This record gives sequence, C-alpha cells and structure tokens, in this order.
Amino acid sequence: MSIIKMDRVTKTYNPGKPNEFAALSEISLDIPSGQCTILAGPSGSGKTTLLSLVGLMSRPSSGRITILGKETTLLAENFRTLFRRGHMGFIFQHFQLITDLTVKDNLDLVLYPDGRPFNAIRERRTSLLERFGLITKRAEKASVLSGGEQQRLAIARALMNNPEILLVDEPTAHLDTTLSQHVIALFEDLRNEGKTLIIASHDPLVLAGGLAERVIHLRDGRIIRQV
Ligand SMILES: Nc1ncnc2c1ncn2[C@@H]1O[C@H](COP(=O)(O)OP(=O)(O)OP(=O)(O)O)[C@@H](O)[C@H]1O
Ligand SMILES: [Mg+2]
Repeated sequence: MSIIKMDRVTKTYNPGKPNEFAALSEISLDIPSGQCTILAGPSGSGKTTLLSLVGLMSRPSSGRITILGKETTLLAENFRTLFRRGHMGFIFQHFQLITDLTVKDNLDLVLYPDGRPFNAIRERRTSLLERFGLITKRAEKASVLSGGEQQRLAIARALMNNPEILLVDEPTAHLDTTLSQHVIALFEDLRNEGKTLIIASHDPLVLAGGLAERVIHLRDGRIIRQV
C-alpha cells in the first residue's frame, strides 16, 4: 500500500522573480508503507526540497501530494500542522536541537502542544532516552553532547509522537564511519518496526547497506533512475 503519493509535483522558488529556480520538476512517485526509500543525488538536486514538501513544511508550486490517503496540498496551514504532528517525524541535517535546553526538555517540547498529560510525556521520553543510550545525559544541555549523541537525540525527538513516517536528511553527514554504521543500524531497526523511512543521502555507506528497499536518484530536480 502506498503511504505517500506524489503526482507531477513541481517546486519553483521565487516564482516570477529574476532569481526564479525550478528545484523540482514533474516528480511522480509512490512510497510504499513500511519501507525505506533513499533519495540520492548530488548537492542541489532537490533532496531536501522533496523532504520538505512531503513533510508539509512547504507547498508545491503545482501537482498533488497524498499522504495516508489524504490530499494535502490544499489543506489549510493549521490542518497541515496537525497532520504533520500526528504522523511525521523529522531528523534534520544539522539536527536543529535547542542547544540551550536540556536533553529531556528537547524531547518533552514535542508533545507539549498536544496537551498530553505530563506523566505520558515523561514515560515516552524515558523509554526513548533508554533506547538511545542517553538516559545519563538527560539533565545535560544539548550543547554539550557529542556529535553521535546529538544525532541519537535528534532521532529520539523525531520518535516522540510515534510517527508512521520518518523523514531524514543526510543522517551521516557529520559522523565518522563507525558512528555512521551505528546510525544506519538504528534506522534498520526502525524500518523493521514498520516505520516508513525516507532518507536523503549521498553517502556511499548509507547506499551500500541493506537499509533501503528503493533508491530514487535525483538530478537537477528530476528523477533520473529508480532501483
Ligand atoms: N528557499 C530557497 N530559495 C531559493 N532556492 C532554493 C531554496 N531552497 C533550495 N533552493 C535551491 O534549490 C535547489 C535544490 O536544493 P536542495 O536543498 O533541495 O538540494 P539538495 O539535493 O538537498 O542538496 P544538498 O545535497 O546540498 O543538501 C538548489 O539549487 C538550491 O539552491
Ligand atoms: Mg539537502
């Protein structure tokens, strides 16, 4: 079953201006539920743009994006926000942790807007901190974590709302080989648990492993190959 469907999606930045730029052109694809899809392609090929469209962080210039059976492109912004909070988790290239806050506050923040009981938030946070080896760091500021720890915190944060879909941008960009392999194994576990993963990466380590069922190669905003 397809969980995400893009139908002739185009994204043009600065339309009508001298710096108009077509970052994605006529992208059509089906992403099956519970699989891992890698978006590969050189710098500037449109990987992050595609993730931001699927993640409802920006709107396509034309075309349709259907997620979990819902056509999202015309939804009002507040519904898009609710939909995103309900179904998606993001792991950004530069983590985007709030470095002045503690590890546990970075996690708790995700669920505050839902008005969930604090006990439920704490339970979820504690189980993720244990899972990702961060429990002893819970009261530290995120700024003192190592690169690998920051990446694991970013993954934990993306899982706080127990999303079906995980969108991941260049997860190994700042990690050495050993840490990269560790992070790849974490994503394998998540895929095996039934999450749908979309990972933008041009790291040969990520592409080489058995992580992805499918690799979509982008170039200049177009799909040039799918394997
Ligand atoms: N907000 C924006 N305004 C104008 N142009 C943009 C904007 N965001 C991205 N672009 C352009 O769109 C193209 C695709 O960018 P995108 O970030 O999606 O590429 P990418 O494949 O993720 O690259 P990288 O591997 O370097 O992260 C680039 O040429 C970029 O300069
Ligand atoms: Mg990018």
